[in-house]
Amino acid sequence: MGRRRTAVLISGGGSNLQALLDDTVRPDASARIELVISNRAGVLGLERAARAGVPTRVVRHGSYADRAAFDAAIDSALAEAGIELVCLAGFMRLLTPGFVERWRDRLLNIHPSLLPSFRGLHPQGQALAAGVQVTGCTVHMVRAETDAGPIILQGLVPVLQGDTPDSLGARILEVEHRCYPRALELVASGRARVEAGRVVVRDPVAEERLLLHPLLATGRA
Ligand code: GRF
Repeated sequence: MGRRRTAVLISGGGSNLQALLDDTVRPDASARIELVISNRAGVLGLERAARAGVPTRVVRHGSYADRAAFDAAIDSALAEAGIELVCLAGFMRLLTPGFVERWRDRLLNIHPSLLPSFRGLHPQGQALAAGVQVTGCTVHMVRAETDAGPIILQGLVPVLQGDTPDSLGARILEVEHRCYPRALELVASGRARVEAGRVVVRDPVAEERLLLHPLLATGRA
């Protein structure tokens, strides 16, 4: 099987995009990033893609009459590039149920919390307000409901005393950058599949679906 042609949808800095670009240069990677689409022009993520030699498209949501027309424009850009898998990475637009359904089990997202806790905006602040001692990130298949869908893998991150949303968010990002490439590899290689609403991995190796921040791994947190 050739490498799965993958697109990444972004709205901003694209540090997760960078992690995906860096990982998929492995000679044995199952996915290859063939297209980056941003709904905003001039963002750092577009520069990262250009630097990696990956084609980019800007699809401005403001240029379309409604969400369905915007999603149709994204869909045709994906079709033109022969895309098979799509990763949302800090893409700040809600996709229509029709789009999500068309890309069912081929559309991944990363969210900076341990879903189903703290869906929606400002999950780091929600975690601090709730007083949880552990939070993290989740890579999941996208469903029409926001921040829901079969979980591919999760990364665990400690909350430290004195954390702010920014300091906690930075710690979560470190783990996101390890989680997203691994999740994409699991899906692109065909080892991760959705069965009865849950992700099942063929021949799993220990801890493959659960990553720990180094502070947890060494037990010093
Ligand atoms: C990440 O925290 C991701 O989980 C969330 O948006 C942020 C994107 O960051 N969905 P970046 O653009 O990848 O740096």
